[in-house]
Amino acid sequence: MTTKLVFLGGGNMTEAIFAGLVSNQQFTIEVIQRNPEKAARLQKIYPRIKVCSTLNYALEPEDLLFLAIKPQQAKEAVQAIKNKLNNCVLISVMAGITINSIYQWTNNSKIIRTIPNTPASVAKGVTAIYAPESITHSERELVQQIFSTIGITYDARNEDEIDKIIPLSSSAIAFVYYFMEGFINAAINQFGFEQEQANNIVKQVLSGSSALLNANSQTSIAEQRSRVTSKKGTTEQGLLTFEQEKLHEITAQAMQNCYLRALEMAKEFN
Ligand SMILES: NC(=O)c1ccc[n+]([C@@H]2O[C@H](COP(=O)([O-])OP(=O)(O)OC[C@H]3O[C@@H](n4cnc5c(N)ncnc54)[C@H](OP(=O)(O)O)[C@@H]3O)[C@@H](O)[C@H]2O)c1
Repeated sequence: MTTKLVFLGGGNMTEAIFAGLVSNQQFTIEVIQRNPEKAARLQKIYPRIKVCSTLNYALEPEDLLFLAIKPQQAKEAVQAIKNKLNNCVLISVMAGITINSIYQWTNNSKIIRTIPNTPASVAKGVTAIYAPESITHSERELVQQIFSTIGITYDARNEDEIDKIIPLSSSAIAFVYYFMEGFINAAINQFGFEQEQANNIVKQVLSGSSALLNANSQTSIAEQRSRVTSKKGTTEQGLLTFEQEKLHEITAQAMQNCYLRALEMAKEFN
């Protein structure tokens, strides 16, 4: 028996999730994408999926509906299809939209909240999943299986953890890139490197650092850092600057503001 996966919103996150599932015979995939150009593009790249502009039939209770529109589009988009849900499992990937809001909009009692991240599109994602008690064990396992095809999963203990993981896994991708941009800018402006050279070097540094951690999984990150930090050496001088300028405190503040924005969005878009 196949499970039907329907995605409301055919944007970046939807594509990242279903791309790894299209050739899996266990699933049939349908994407609701209102934008005709984006719909045509998806249909061309993935001929095995069905792309429609609206949901024009009622779902079955065993179907899974992914809510993958922007938080500010959510209320209108979800309310428009509330009579077609048949109490199937709704899997929200939206940041900052609570289970309670989705329940108020739909009266559907089966709602799972997740936070994936963009490396999901290359099967290197992290997806946090919060499934409340209304979700059965087999429904939970199925959702876990789906997200495991695009990376690792984290079982959130409560809904608040879903908002708290945003700065750690989802927005964190942008934070890492921002840090990399700082290296590249300094390499170009202070030391005269070409943009392309600096880009290539910093990208290799990042993938090398990550590969080294994976190759030495018993060693902590702090220990790996101390291995490249000789006493009175060059690295130590650079790290001292980060410490003096309280980089960790700035990071903590950025993560807190990111989390607070998720809470704010819950109020703004409910
Ligand atoms: N990107 C990330 O890193 C990330 C990480 C974790 C979670 N998320 C969550 O994932 C969700 C989707 O993000 P995204 O980056 O994939 O956004 P996106 O690329 O903008 O995708 C949303 C798509 O849904 C379409 N849409 C909006 N309302 C619709 C409706 N009523 N019916 C059919 N299609 C509709 C939009 O069309 P239009 O172009 O016409 O508006 C757009 O193409 C967000 O809620 C975000 O919080 C994203």
